[in-house]
Order: sequence, then C-alpha cells, then structure tokens
Amino acid sequence: MSFDLVLFGGTGDLAWRKLMPALFQAFRHGTLPANGRIIGVGREELSHDQYRARIRERFHSVELAKRPSEDEFTRFAALLEYLRMDLSVPDDYAPLASALAQRQADTVVMYVATAPGLFTTVCEQLGVAGLNTPQTRVVLEKPLGHDLASNRAINATVSRVFGEKHIFRIDHYLGKPSVQNLFALRFGNALFEPLWRREHIANIQITIAEDLGVENRGAFYETTGALRDMVQNHALQLLCAIGMEPPINAHADAIRDEKLKVLRSLKPWTAESLKQDVIRGQYSGGTIAGAAVPGYRKEAGVGAHSPTETFVALRTEISNWRWAGVPFYIRTGKRLAGRDAHIVVNFRPTPHAIFNSQIGAANRLIINLQPRDGLELHLLAQGQDNRRNSQNLAPVQLDLDFDKRFGGERVGAYERLLLDVIDGRLNLFLRADEQEEAWRWVEPILEHWQHDSQGPRLYAAGTWGPSASSALIARDGFCWSEEN
Ligand code: BG6
Repeated sequence: MSFDLVLFGGTGDLAWRKLMPALFQAFRHGTLPANGRIIGVGREELSHDQYRARIRERFHSVELAKRPSEDEFTRFAALLEYLRMDLSVPDDYAPLASALAQRQADTVVMYVATAPGLFTTVCEQLGVAGLNTPQTRVVLEKPLGHDLASNRAINATVSRVFGEKHIFRIDHYLGKPSVQNLFALRFGNALFEPLWRREHIANIQITIAEDLGVENRGAFYETTGALRDMVQNHALQLLCAIGMEPPINAHADAIRDEKLKVLRSLKPWTAESLKQDVIRGQYSGGTIAGAAVPGYRKEAGVGAHSPTETFVALRTEISNWRWAGVPFYIRTGKRLAGRDAHIVVNFRPTPHAIFNSQIGAANRLIINLQPRDGLELHLLAQGQDNRRNSQNLAPVQLDLDFDKRFGGERVGAYERLLLDVIDGRLNLFLRADEQEEAWRWVEPILEHWQHDSQGPRLYAAGTWGPSASSALIARDGFCWSEEN
C-alpha cells in the first residue's frame, strides 16, 4: 500500500516533538507501509535536504533509546520531502497538487498541525485545489475551536470539503496504550461490570498532572488555558471511557455513540455549581525536582496580570441510571508535584463492619495511565500482628505493571494514531457531535470565569494545586489519592 502524508505545520513544535518521532518509530517497527512519502509543509524556504537535516538535529533531543543510528535515519530520510507554502495563499496549493499528482498514492493524509486559526483555510483551499479526493483523509489537531460556536464553524467548513468518514479529529490520549487498556479492562472482563455502578462506587477521580510548565508555548497557552487545553478533550474522553455503557461492537460509531451519551448526561451547570464545583488555579514560583522555577506570569509570552488558568479541579455527575449521584472529580494542571495521570475508582465501604478497625480507605481500583501503565487493586487483609489482635485489618494491594508484563517498547500514542489514519480506522478519533457536546458542557464555565473578578487561585509550582481543590472534594467527605 502506498501513502502520501502531507504535514501542514511541518516545521512546528508538534511536528518536531511528537509527529516526526512517531513516524520514525513506526518506520523502525516496520509498521509504516513501505511505499510512503512524508511531505513537510512550512513557510520557510528550505530544500529537502535542509529539512531532513533539521529533523536529524531535532532527533538528538528525543530519548536516547529512540534515537536513530545514522543508517536508520538515512533510510527514514529517504521518505521525507519539503514544500514551502503560505497556507493563506490559494496559488501555493498548486505545487502541492502537482507533487501529489506525481504518483497516485492509495491513501493521502492531510495532517493539519498548524495554528487552529488556519484549519478552515487549509481545508477550503484543499477543496478548491481538488485535493479532497476519495483517497484523502484529513487529520485535525486539537484544539478544534475555542468555544462551541467556533468549533461548529470549523466542523461546518470542513464537512463541506470532506465527508465525516474522511475526517480524523485527534485526541492523542485515546492513542495511549493505557487508555486502550481501560477499554479492555471494562469490556474484555466480566469481573468489574457488576460493580461498575452507583450501588458499589462511592466516587471516581481523574487526575492528569504535569510537572512541566507552559515551556515555549506561553503565547498559545494565554489564549487556551487548562480548561480548553486538557479538560474539554483529554479529561472528558477519560471520563467517557470510565462512564460509558458497553458499545454493541468495537466499531467507531458504536463507541462514539456511547461516549456521546455520557457527554449528554453530564449534569448541567447552575449559577451555584459554577461557583462551588469548579476551581481554577495558576502556578506561582516554586520548586520542581529541587530546582526553582518561575511562576506562570513570568513565562515568555505571558501577560504580567494574566488570568489564564493552568489548573482546573471540578466535580460533576453523570445523570443516568448507572451513575446518578456518584461524584466524578476531574483535576489537571501544569507545574504540579509530578507527571502523573491516573483514575481512582473508590468503592463503597462494606455495609456492615465486623472488624474492629478498617485502616485506610475502602476497596479501591487505581488505573495508572502515566508515567506507569498499570492497575492497582487495593484491598484490606489480615495484618501481620494477627496474634495480638485478630480483628485489625491492613491495606494490601495487587499491582499489575503493564510495561513490565508486556515488556519491550510499547507503541506510543501518536505512532498508533498515525497508523490508524493511514489504515482508515476511525475508532480512536472523535466525531463532530461528540466534540460539540464537550464544548457545550465547558462553555458555561468559560462564561462564568469571564465575569468572575476573583481570578485564578495561585498555587506554588511543585504542589498539588490550590488548597480549594482539596476542599472541593473534602466537602463530600472524600480526599484526593495522594492525601490518603
Ligand atoms: C496536549 C496539551 O494536548 O497534551 C499539552 O496541549 C499537554 O499542554 C499535553 O502538555 C500532555 O500530553 P501527555 O501525552 O504528555 O500527557
């Protein structure tokens, strides 16, 4: 099978950091179809060789284990070409059309990894240039819009040019092996399903913590913030994976239908809940891994009085038969105490206590997403001091580390998703209605913040966010996993 992959934003941050390394990994693993061509598109004037040299240079900063040898890189570089284009100039699409006409690849992937403002222009111009052929798939990076109206406008424009089956809206969290494991855990095993409901689950906590700051993306982040950058997409997708009903099969639409139902069942916001159940924070200076780091407002590209949130904690519910009344807590932020994404499912305590003391929390399942991919099942067992007091229980845990269990190098999120696009598998991509529903739900929060003079609560870099985040969950009588 032959493919041409056109990478708009070919000299951008995402291309260097994620997409090119992922394509290289697929090449190294032998999963990238052999007859491929990757055309990086950028505004700079570069020759093919200069572009290849730049990628070679950038590969020096990827993890050592992933770095290519000279020979490997030379073979990979043979797939790479470069095309200079100003994406807003219609005439610049003609050279692209002739480059693609040089051969009739079985699949053409248009990966739009540009500034979001260019998505519609690129798609429209691809249509005008006749590049929306039946072989073509378009990949749109997040964020797709900055609110419901802009998201709809983008979807409307794109769908005038490409049919829904040709549109791949990416959320790279769905490509993570740990997130696919979550589907396997729920729908490949009968064990948890009877317990997976309001009668047995006290609350669910979703945490996506990063220790990195905004790095060199300050200007972008100023217009985005944690709610748009992480909650509207990654965190809500995790919530869907945890909360959805079993789909009738593993096809894209069956999965998306169920996720959409979860998003539609999210409890609507009220003036009261917007005040009480959503916390926004922003990091101030602090210490990460022993080194002092500046606060958000001191980062390049960030305003000295910026109100942009780098942290969000919120409480919601899925108002349906399975979940009514069970709190779902979401928490995400930058410059937190560590890089740690996990989901905690806290089960209800036993209905009747026969032991003297039940130390620690009730049964709990922790789904570790990163940096470790695994499962921990926390149980209570007879402790070591059973001779002194046979009625004291101690917490123990079953710990399953998928990286160790499956060994070797696991396929990264972007690698997996890029291969899915080339193969035309839509399961791990978002449908327009799903994405719109997620925007509809976050929009009242955005509006509330616009009129809320309080601004974000500051938290020191290297901590778990503002204390209000702990207070939010303590109000229901629970605590975040690290506070246990
Ligand atoms: C991206 C966000 O979508 O996800 C970034 O724009 C964030 O701000 C990143 O750092 C986190 O991804 P991962 O895979 O490192 O958890």
